[in-house]
Amino acid sequence: MKSNPFYYGGAVGDEHFCNRVSEIKELRTDMLSGLNILIYAPRRFGKTSFVLKTLEELEGERVKYVFLDLMYLSTVDEFINKYFNVLAKSLEEPTDKVVNFFKSILKLRPNINVNFDSAGNPSFSLAMSNEDRTKALEDVLNIPYEFAKNGQKIVVVFDEFQEIVGLELESKLRSVIQRHGDKVAYIFMGSKKSLLHQMFLDKSRPFYKSVKHFKIQEIAKESWREFVASKFAATGKRIDDGYIDAIFRLTKGFPYYTQQFAYELWNMTDERVDDEIFAKTQNTIMEREEDLFAVEWDNLTPNQKKSVKIILDKGGKSLYDEQYLAKYQIKSGSFQTALGGLVKKDIIDKTASEGYYFQDPLFEFWMRGRNG
Ligand SMILES: Nc1ncnc2c1ncn2[C@@H]1O[C@H](COP(=O)(O)OP(=O)(O)O)[C@@H](O)[C@H]1O
Ligand SMILES: [Mg+2]
Repeated sequence: MKSNPFYYGGAVGDEHFCNRVSEIKELRTDMLSGLNILIYAPRRFGKTSFVLKTLEELEGERVKYVFLDLMYLSTVDEFINKYFNVLAKSLEEPTDKVVNFFKSILKLRPNINVNFDSAGNPSFSLAMSNEDRTKALEDVLNIPYEFAKNGQKIVVVFDEFQEIVGLELESKLRSVIQRHGDKVAYIFMGSKKSLLHQMFLDKSRPFYKSVKHFKIQEIAKESWREFVASKFAATGKRIDDGYIDAIFRLTKGFPYYTQQFAYELWNMTDERVDDEIFAKTQNTIMEREEDLFAVEWDNLTPNQKKSVKIILDKGGKSLYDEQYLAKYQIKSGSFQTALGGLVKKDIIDKTASEGYYFQDPLFEFWMRGRNG
């Protein structure tokens, strides 16, 4: 039996990767120019996949890259060591060469520890005392730049970058990497838009206006049609375009959900997708997400709940409508505050042309079901 051609979960590449052709081209150029870039999009929108794919396509350009996920770091020491470890692994090999190179550029010369796992892969860490920490941090932050002096292009990716605030490393990091100019391209990624906005758009913050804002959008319907249909066909099953469009109406092209839907639909289908199979798949998915959405709803204040309903009723536009404010018994000042709160919680967002919309298309669909 053929295995399921769809995938959802962590980052995807190769045959699981759909479109983003023009974005990859643009990001590639930016990376080669050594720009610093901010990429934000909701969780599970495909940020990591997109950036890793672009980096892969830079192979042959003599570009080395370093990828650090800040999500699960809780102390500065952890940051220093995790970053040092990925730098060591990504920039140099074999092991003795790494150690020598770093010894030559680290001014402080702390002890470099190397541990090997059962498969023989090394991992690196620094032994440092309390007094050394500040210096060690600066040295480690400068490693990419020192390395770039050999004429090597370096791209450093910080995933879930908003977490740097909790580590109290924001200004330190900014002041060091500012000196790296176009020798090192820094890519800052993250899913908490309101936090990232404050970091990069607030005049009082260290990273104010220091980056190019790179927008990634949902993947277009035409691309999903081709992607989904060809995978069904290649595995001996059929899906008509109408059903792919129906998936798209639900997920709005949001990558994770679109793959999830296609994955489950494929599983439930023997030969050909029909109305019954489609409806069953949709129920399965909504049931599975239900608990999470209920928690999300519970976490809203009463005024935020009213506001969600107004956005649903009005389709996100011309929201300050007396009739609706009266229907839900909310004053326009409170409504405004509630909208701000929903933006802060990353539940909704706003575009100039479309007005307010829900960041999570399935949450919106689920709410519509509840809203009668
Ligand atoms: N370009 C893409 N083509 C197809 N599916 C994608 C693509 N990007 C992301 N996905 C889907 O979304 C899921 C989450 O992707 P990921 O890159 O981890 O998102 P993020 O980093 O924004 O949280 C993947 O497991 C995959 O199912
Ligand atoms: Mg990610």
